[in-house]
Amino acid sequence: MQIYKVGGAVRDRLLGKPVTDIDWVVVGATTEEMLAKGFRPVGADFPVFLHPKSGEEYALARTERKSGRGYGGFTFHASPEVTLEEDLIRRDLTINAMAEDDQQNLTDPYHGQRDLEARLLRHVSPAFAEDPLRVLRVARFAARYSGLGFTVAPETLELMRQLSESGELEALTAERSWKEISRALMEDQPQVFIEVLRECGALKVLMPEVDALFGVPQPEAHHPEIDTGVHTLSVLEQAARHKQPLTVRWACLLHDLGKGLTPEEEWPRHIAHEHKGLKLIKAVNERFKAPKDCQELALLVGEYHTHGHRALELKPSTLLELLQSFDVYRRPHRFEEFIAACEMDARGRKGLEQRSYPQADYLRGAANAARTVAVQPLMEKGFKGPELGEAIKRERLKALKAYKEAASA
Ligand code: CTP
Repeated sequence: MQIYKVGGAVRDRLLGKPVTDIDWVVVGATTEEMLAKGFRPVGADFPVFLHPKSGEEYALARTERKSGRGYGGFTFHASPEVTLEEDLIRRDLTINAMAEDDQQNLTDPYHGQRDLEARLLRHVSPAFAEDPLRVLRVARFAARYSGLGFTVAPETLELMRQLSESGELEALTAERSWKEISRALMEDQPQVFIEVLRECGALKVLMPEVDALFGVPQPEAHHPEIDTGVHTLSVLEQAARHKQPLTVRWACLLHDLGKGLTPEEEWPRHIAHEHKGLKLIKAVNERFKAPKDCQELALLVGEYHTHGHRALELKPSTLLELLQSFDVYRRPHRFEEFIAACEMDARGRKGLEQRSYPQADYLRGAANAARTVAVQPLMEKGFKGPELGEAIKRERLKALKAYKEAASA
């Protein structure tokens, strides 16, 4: 049997990037031989094994034929006769279809190295269409490598367009899609992921609520970029620039969905878009089964981001309601993430990327002021049950009034 390093490990070494996990392909071996060498099988009918010591993935060279819709619809053909070239041709991109032996000799039948140099994400063969998830993967690689100058080859974009129109994307499971989306959002240029999906028509299928934001104008005074879709991409770009976590990036992507529902006669104003957007945010959250913290933050940021921007003008009672909605007393971290998302929203506007955001410290100060209210003395005064709750609220309101006065003095 011959063993080769394949996929991302070869690509990233040639790009001079750190290699994290290594995938291997084994040519000329049978399942029985692998088991005899102590490899552990990964799935019942999947010719993939884990190395007994390193735990790395070793796959038998295989050809893949699609036999139906969705991810379940695959049949694998793995046998010792399958060649390295046959295995590589069914892979997604030429830059992912190179193999290397233990002497670092490169096998590159589909010119991955040439495409690395040309900075092109190009599909290897029509077999690309066998897994529609690859549309998301290409967009994710574009997000990762656009800083190096990579773009999607026109013929690959065309194939992605056909796949998006074919209805195949709808057959993807929430779990597989979320894995790609969440990884793409954590790349350096996550906005490129959304741009590429939009360009090939996949955004319309996967997140029509985000796609609908393009072409929707906002008032120029607050939004020099005008277009809501362009604004959303800039907010995401800022979130990555400021190294925000996934929760914040997800909330940034979805914060303005309500603007896509505004009747044209009301443009460029978007009255109550925060509230109108909530059902859309909920739908996108559920479609991809986003983790609970991402879902929660997206809904809260959707509902309250304008409050964040207007923090300095809010009445103490409104400020208190905001803090209560976030449960800042028990969930301080979530409130910090809200503030971060608001700040990214404020900076994700043309020419305003460097603006200061005094609202952030003001909101932090307000949360601290409300937190200083001690419960014990109120209990000692005899308050309990709902009355205690009311008394705490009154004291917090007092603290916020004092805070606002001190801040504006
Ligand atoms: N692959 C593919 N189609 C997929 C998934 C994977 O063709 N839908 C192939 C590619 O050759 C890829 C390899 O399997 O390089 C390993 O896949 P994976 O580990 O998911 O990706 P990497 O390319 O290693 O990229 P990353 O750095 O994002 O993990």
